[in-house]
Amino acid sequence: KVISLNLDKVLSFVGKAEIESKAALAKQYNEVLHKGSGKGSDFLGWLNLPTSITSAHLDDIQATANELRKCEVVVVVGIGGSYLGAKAVIEALSNSFDWLQKDRKNPVIVYAGQNIGEDYIYELLAYLKGKSFGIINISKSGTTTEPALAFRILKKELEDSVGKAVAKTRIVAVTDAARGALHTLAKNEGYKMYVIPDNVGGRFSVLTPVGLLPIAVAGFDIKKLVEGAVYMEKNTTPDVPFEKNLAEQYAVTRNELYKKGKKIEILVNFNPKLHFFAEWWKQLYGESEGKDNKGIYPAAVDFTTDLHSMGQWIQEGERTIFETVISVANAHHKVEVPSDAEDLDGLNFLVGKRVDYVNKMAELGTQLAHVDGGVPNIKVEVPELSEYYLGQLIYFFEKACGISGYILEVNPFDQPGVEAYKKNMFALLNKPGFEKAHEEIQKRL
Ligand code: PA5
Repeated sequence: KVISLNLDKVLSFVGKAEIESKAALAKQYNEVLHKGSGKGSDFLGWLNLPTSITSAHLDDIQATANELRKCEVVVVVGIGGSYLGAKAVIEALSNSFDWLQKDRKNPVIVYAGQNIGEDYIYELLAYLKGKSFGIINISKSGTTTEPALAFRILKKELEDSVGKAVAKTRIVAVTDAARGALHTLAKNEGYKMYVIPDNVGGRFSVLTPVGLLPIAVAGFDIKKLVEGAVYMEKNTTPDVPFEKNLAEQYAVTRNELYKKGKKIEILVNFNPKLHFFAEWWKQLYGESEGKDNKGIYPAAVDFTTDLHSMGQWIQEGERTIFETVISVANAHHKVEVPSDAEDLDGLNFLVGKRVDYVNKMAELGTQLAHVDGGVPNIKVEVPELSEYYLGQLIYFFEKACGISGYILEVNPFDQPGVEAYKKNMFALLNKPGFEKAHEEIQKRL
C-alpha cells in the first residue's frame, strides 16, 4: 500500500487539461532538481538522502538512542528545522496519553529551545528535578539563540545533579560537520556527536540524525521511516510519468490554484495526532516559498475540532483558500458506539458503528460542503499512521516543495528573511558586535 493523491475535488476549479498542460513544466523542474542546475543547488542533500542512508548509520543512531532510552526523560533541544520534524513524527506515532502513564516503556520526550518562555523553562526544570534525564542538543549552525540559551541552562542542571562525567554520557549533539559553537563545545566536552550534512537545510533535515535520533529515542522504527522515504524517492524521480508522480502533480495543482487567486493553502487533518505534522509542513512550505513578495501562505487546522472555530471562515469567508486534506484511511484501534436504553442523546442510530466511521462521514461531509462553498480540495490519502507511511509522506512533501518552489521561480532552499528579527534582537540586547545597531535601534523605540 502507498499514499495517494486525489484531485477530483479540485477539477471544478482547475480543469484536468490545465493541470496536464503543466506536466512538462513540472517534469522539467524535477529534472533541474536532479541535475542540480537550479537555484539553491548547494542545498540538495535531501534529494537522494533516503537511498543513501546505510544500515550501519541507522544501527549507530539506534545504539545511541538505546543508551538515552535508559533515562526517564529526554529533552530535545532545537528550533525550526532542528525541532519540528522529530516532533511531527513522534506526535503522529505516540499514544496520546502515554506521557501520563506510570509504567512506561519509553522515556518521556520533552522539548526545549523552541521558544524563549521563561516560565516554560522554569517549569521544565522543575519537572526534571529528581528525574534521570538526557539531552539531545540539535543546532546546525550551533549559534541559534533559543536552543543555545536552553542548552546552557539544561547542561548546568544536569551537571549539578549527576556531575560532569555522567552528564557528558547523557548529552548528544547534532550539528554541523566542522564549524559552529556547538561543534566546538561538543568536541571539548566529549559528547557523542552526529553531523547534519552541509547540503541539507534545516526544514529538509528530518531524515538526518536531527529527526532520526529523537524518533528512535521515542521508541519508533527509524528503519521503517527511511524505507517509506526510499519508496517515495524512487517513485517521484523525473522518469516516473506525471500521471504517477504524486510530487509533480501536487506541485502543479497548488500553483495553478495560486494563479487563480487561491493564496492560502490550509493543511487539514481529521486526526489530532497530525497537528505537529502540519507545523512541520508549514515550515517546509512557508520558508521555502514565502519570498520575493510571493508564495502561498501555508496554514493548518485540526478537524473536526476547528470546524467549531475556523469552520465558518472556511465555509463563507474570503474565497482565497484551498484545502489539502491528509486523510488517514484506518485507525489502529476499534471503539464502537454503545447502546443506551434511554437514548437521551439520540445517538442510538449509531449503535455498533465505529467512531472512525463517524469521523469519516464528518470528513466527507466537510469536503462536500467546502467544495460547494468555493474551496478546492486536494486529498492526500494515507493507509494508516505508521513509520513507513510517514516516511512516504515526508519525502512526498519535500520533493513537491522543491518542484513547486521552482515553478514559482523562487529559490526554495534559502531563508534570508529569517535573519531580520535576529539582527534587531541582537541590537536590542547589545550583543558584542552590534553596538552601533544598538544605538540606532534605541532611537526607533
Ligand atoms: O530552516 C531553517 O533554516 C531554520 O528553521 C533552522 O532550522 C532553525 O533556525 C534552527 O537553526 P539551527 O539548526 O542552525 O539552530
